Amino acid sequence: MTAVEQLKEWIAESDQIVFFGGAGVSTESGISDFRSQDGLYRQQYAYPPEQILSHTFYLKNPEEFYRFYRNKMISPQAKPNKAHLALAKLEQAGKLKAVITQNIDGLHQMAGSREVLELHGSVHRNFCTRCGRFYGLSQILETEGFPRCSCGGMIKPDVVLYEESLDMDTLSKAVMYIKKADMLIIGGTSLTVYPAAGLVDYYSGSRLVLINRDVTPLDSRADLAIKGKIGEILDQAWGN
Ligand code: APR
Repeated sequence: MTAVEQLKEWIAESDQIVFFGGAGVSTESGISDFRSQDGLYRQQYAYPPEQILSHTFYLKNPEEFYRFYRNKMISPQAKPNKAHLALAKLEQAGKLKAVITQNIDGLHQMAGSREVLELHGSVHRNFCTRCGRFYGLSQILETEGFPRCSCGGMIKPDVVLYEESLDMDTLSKAVMYIKKADMLIIGGTSLTVYPAAGLVDYYSGSRLVLINRDVTPLDSRADLAIKGKIGEILDQAWGN
């Protein structure tokens, strides 16, 4: 039995599936990931990208933060790929209960997924730091420099920057889903950023599937590890 055939069999036998993913789920939509050879963190900038995407940098160098953020963290033209679409179909079939993602691009929801837990937030949600008013992505795209609210306050993306904590409600919901899962599919993540990567420890079943292009620290713990492009693999397993 091939790895994809085993994946298909386990999917057929499961109805409490949870998916946990990262930037590798969106690379087939044209969005770079962070740590691959051609990833964002491998490119040269005036400052290391992880430093730019930190709370301290956002406060001290807002203009530079927003220049990088608009150029590198927002992809308004990106469309869902086969991975996003297969996961949305799995949920519609009543088999997948939640997508837990580290991505901020909103492509899972655009593909039709309904229960999506965004551990690191979303570029589609922006708030005034003074009055709390909500702004969509267009407010960021259609302005230059540091976006300001009508009240004069600074607008900040609802994205978890380095040095910031994750939303505890989202995190505890993710733990609840993983604890109840009969199958956990992890894909397109290097599993190097915590606490997100630590979520896997809450899974106690025997169908831990890891779909990734490169090696991850979890490969040896997976019940099924599949190397390759997650869009193609999920499409073969549950696509058309
Ligand atoms: N199919 C399968 N795997 C892929 C694909 C693909 N098409 N494209 C990339 N990958 C794999 C890469 O091999 C890599 O191991 O996806 C993984 C992406 O890892 P990272 O770039 O580290 O992204 P991610 O794990 O999501 O990073 C976590 O780090 O900087 C923070 O907040 C940021 O959410 C991000 C977090």
